[in-house]
Amino acid sequence: MTTSEWAEVDRYLVESLVQDADTEAALAANAAAGLPAIDVSPPQGKFLNLLARSAGVRRVLEIGTLGGYSTIWLARAVGEKGQVITLEFQQQHADVARENLDRAGIGARVDIRVGAALDSLPVLAAEHPEPFDLVFIDADKVNNSNYVQWALRLTRPGSIIIVDNVVRNGAVADASSDDPVIQASRDVIELLAAEPTLDATALQTVGAKGWDGFAYAIVNGAD
Ligand code: SAH
Ligand code: DHB
Ligand code: MG
Repeated sequence: MTTSEWAEVDRYLVESLVQDADTEAALAANAAAGLPAIDVSPPQGKFLNLLARSAGVRRVLEIGTLGGYSTIWLARAVGEKGQVITLEFQQQHADVARENLDRAGIGARVDIRVGAALDSLPVLAAEHPEPFDLVFIDADKVNNSNYVQWALRLTRPGSIIIVDNVVRNGAVADASSDDPVIQASRDVIELLAAEPTLDATALQTVGAKGWDGFAYAIVNGAD
């Protein structure tokens, strides 16, 4: 199969299962503002929402906001008393996200922090926040392992850590790749495997955005 066939199936699935005015408005606003179309796909966004609700997630840390598309799906899942803290490097992305989140009616539960995530994370840790129930890592891929290390400090046994875009058209299986992004994908898979406090898997995905996948880990010790 080809990307265009995968995209056609995504269109069918979105039409059938994921139609949603506020998230579609966010994608339109992102495009109008010239943001890159690298949000999670609509079926993936809704999957994050359902997953977070299945696990009773109330506190989310997201690394990489863009226009807040994934953020809306996650913020809906945490409920009125929940909180999402999302870290974004670019002020313009954060501004677009703020408008999208407010338009979607869940802006009050989302704290967008602008800056390099590796600068924002120590500040956040120093606030001794309640542990996050779910961490969604989706920013600069070369720092994925650093972000997983931070996620470990900011979670509790049973928390979920998801790392987006680890498959990269299958390149993750190429040990000889000299692409730093591919090496970082391999490094984070190795870290998830080696870290005794984590139990992890990864799933390949196809769809409108081509062939990619995400890693999924649970912090051990809850059972
Ligand atoms: N999670 C979003 C997509 C995020 S795209 C969604 O699915 O809707 C990746 C984002 O990470 C971009 O907005 C980019 O500006 C941001 N980013 C890149 N490097 C970063 C860094 N060092 N710290 C924080 N954010 C970063
Ligand atoms: C890219 C980043 C993403 O977060 C994504 O989901 C797809 C692509 C990128 O930087 O190319
Ligand atoms: Mg991504």
